Amino acid sequence: MIRTLLDAFTARFGPGDAPRLFFAPGRVNLIGEHTDYNGGHVFPCALSLGTWCAARRRSDSTVRLATGNIPRSGVLRHPLGYRARRGSRCWSRYPESVINAFRHAGFQIPTGMDLYYYGNIPSGSGLSSSASMEVVTGAVLRELYGLRVSSVRLAQLGQYAENVYVGVQCGIMDQFASAMGRRAHAIYLDTASLRYEYAPLRLPDSSIVVCNSRVKHSLASSEYNLRRSQCETALAALRTVRDIPALCALTPEEFEALSERIPDPLCRKRARHAVRENARTQQALEALRADRLADFGRLMNESHVSLRDDYEVSCPELDLLTRLAWDTEGVVGSRMTGGGFGGCTVSIVKTEALADFQEKLARVYRERTGLEAEFYTVEAGDGVRRLI
Ligand code: GLA
Repeated sequence: MIRTLLDAFTARFGPGDAPRLFFAPGRVNLIGEHTDYNGGHVFPCALSLGTWCAARRRSDSTVRLATGNIPRSGVLRHPLGYRARRGSRCWSRYPESVINAFRHAGFQIPTGMDLYYYGNIPSGSGLSSSASMEVVTGAVLRELYGLRVSSVRLAQLGQYAENVYVGVQCGIMDQFASAMGRRAHAIYLDTASLRYEYAPLRLPDSSIVVCNSRVKHSLASSEYNLRRSQCETALAALRTVRDIPALCALTPEEFEALSERIPDPLCRKRARHAVRENARTQQALEALRADRLADFGRLMNESHVSLRDDYEVSCPELDLLTRLAWDTEGVVGSRMTGGGFGGCTVSIVKTEALADFQEKLARVYRERTGLEAEFYTVEAGDGVRRLI
C-alpha cells in the first residue's frame, strides 16, 4: 500500500524530495447521534478505513493536489489561499478549506505543497470520508511546517473548515474521532467541554458490523443545517424560561417539564430527540463498562426509533436494514449511524450469527430495493498518524 501511494505521488508530481505519508481514519458512531451540536455526548470509534495523504513542501507558493479516487482527475494547481467558489463540488475544497482554516487561525504556512490523496471509505456512506480528509490535511500541515497544534485542535480546525468554507454546520464528532481514535476503544466525548475518555470495546463473542445501504446521503447538508437550526429555535424558546447553555444540559425529565414552552411542535420533537439521545449515550457508556451488552443493544435500537420518528433523518432503506437486523437471531442492537438520509447502519452481532446476518440482510435488501448492501466488520483503530 505504502509503495503504491508513493509511486502514485511521483507519477503525478515528478521527482524531487521524498514525500511524507500520513493517514487519518473515518469513524462509526455507536450511539449519540445529532447530539454534538447540542452540547451532548457522542460515542464513536475510529475505523481502519480512512484517507492517506502523501505530501511534501514546495519552494514556491503553489499548492498542487491530486487524488487516486477519481480516475483521470489530473493535477490541480492553485495558489496558496485559493478558495473554491461557493457551492463548488470539487473534492479539493476539503483540503483547501483546511489550509485556509489554519491560515485564518494565524498559523504560518510559508510555502506551497504537493498533496496526493487516496481514501478507501466509500464516499457518501456517512463514515466520515470528508472529516478524514480534513484531519489528514491538518496533520500534514502540522508536520510540514512544524506547527504547534494538538490533535484536539486539529479536529477543531477541521470542523471550522467544514462549517465556514464547505458550508455544513457539523459538530465536532467526526473530526474528533478521526484525530483522537484509539485501537480497540470507543471515545466517549462530552462535546460541551471536550472532555473525553476511552472506553475499551470488550465484546468477547460479538462484532460491530457496519452495513452500507449504498444510498448516498444527498440531502445531508441542507437537511442537516435545517435540523441544527430547529434545535437552535427550540433552545431559544427554552431560554426564555431557564438559563441553559445547550439542549443537552437538560435531563429528559427536566425537558418534559419545560417542553410546552417550545411553540413549534416540530422543533419540540427535534429537541426531545437530542435530550433523550444524550441520556441514552450516558447509559450506553455505563452498560458497556458493566458488560451489559444487551442493554447497550436496546439503547441502540431506541436511538434508531428516535432518529426515525422524532428527528426524521432516517430513510426507508435504513429503516429496512435495521428492521431486518432487529428480526435476526443473534443481533444485540442495530441503528442508523452518522448524519442520516442514507449511508450506513451499525449493528452489534453475535459472532456465531454473523454469516446468517449478512446473508439474510443482503438477500432481502436486494429483493426489496434492488441495491447491493455492503458489510464491514469494524476494527476500532488509532487516530491520525504519520506513517513515514
Ligand atoms: C454528521 C456530522 C456530525 C454529527 C453527525 C450526527 O456526521 O458531521 O458532527 O452531527 O452527523 O450525529
